[in-house]
Amino acid sequence: MARSFNKSISMSNQQINKSTDKLFRVKWRSPSNIAIIKYWGKHGRQIPVNPSISLTLKKSFTELELNVFEKNKAKNEIEFQFLFNGLRNEKFEQRIAAYLLSVKEDLPFLGDFRFEIQSENSFPHSSGIASSASSMSALALSLVSFAESLGMHMPSNESQFASYLSRLASGSASRSVFGGWSIWGKLKQIEESTDEYAINLPFAIHPCFQTLQDLVLITSSTPKKVSSSEGHYKMNSHSFSEARKFQAIDHANKLIPVLQDGDFESFAQIAESEALSLHALMLSSEPGYFLVNGRTLQIIDEIRNFREETGIRLCFTLDAGPNVHLLYPLEEKEQIMLFLQEELLGLCEGGRWLDDGAGDGPIQLID
Ligand code: PMV
Repeated sequence: MARSFNKSISMSNQQINKSTDKLFRVKWRSPSNIAIIKYWGKHGRQIPVNPSISLTLKKSFTELELNVFEKNKAKNEIEFQFLFNGLRNEKFEQRIAAYLLSVKEDLPFLGDFRFEIQSENSFPHSSGIASSASSMSALALSLVSFAESLGMHMPSNESQFASYLSRLASGSASRSVFGGWSIWGKLKQIEESTDEYAINLPFAIHPCFQTLQDLVLITSSTPKKVSSSEGHYKMNSHSFSEARKFQAIDHANKLIPVLQDGDFESFAQIAESEALSLHALMLSSEPGYFLVNGRTLQIIDEIRNFREETGIRLCFTLDAGPNVHLLYPLEEKEQIMLFLQEELLGLCEGGRWLDDGAGDGPIQLID
């Protein structure tokens, strides 16, 4: 039985349809990403206050299947069903409902068909990996595949359009549409960059950053008290908002030659300053809040001591949460694994950590 969410959207309670009235089927695997220059603050229709630069990951991904069926076109409401790990999830369903409604003008066919969406993540929830980046980019890519099959005219090329649609769901998702290093948001130094969608960084990346590794130490898997959406919103009235914009642009400008030259020391300075600034902005919000915990701080200390003592190329970044991302070139892996076993595992919740690194971007699994 269909349940009405609001006037122009309905979410079906039925079992996934196995009948033959299926018109289209596509499946995308899309990875998450980790930002080095952080997106924090937005205005208008998900327009970022500052440009952000990220590395697309490899092993942390969402696989999303979209099935499209006939429906009564006279009823122009959006009809869909969403299953996460094979089960209904009301929170995700409502988010997708709001999203589909928000892009109805960009995808005018949304009211003409019935959609079934099934999604699974390769990584656990609240583990320091942005699931909105992987899931929303997978959804946008699937919708673009369907739009393409209908012969819909795209305002830009397919990946740019998928990145644009991803951005409208979750800003960071716009960067996941591309493998390797991406920038979203206008940076004067990179002419092609835009607030509308992400692009791959348009220059050759030094080998040490092409295969950069990201090891996530899970210090807490408790869901966040303050969401990223609230955090973005709080930046509108933050006393440091202008200074933050200036800092992010300055960091982005400095990161560009660093990524080309392979200068890890400067990379570490920028990445760590961005991570700590992000959390400092949370602390200095009105009212202030914090998402890090004691173990986060202990790990940061350990990393800095280890780097100073050994000269091994290792630094950290943080997303909007307490889990610590260790960033290091692939050649350092053996040493980092020893460091993990000897010093860091005891600081992880239940000894939990995730091993990831640079990836090539989304792939289509079924067409
Ligand atoms: O895309 P959102 O709205 O979940 O915001 C992401 C914000 C950060 O993860 C903190 C930084 C970033 O650029 O990914």
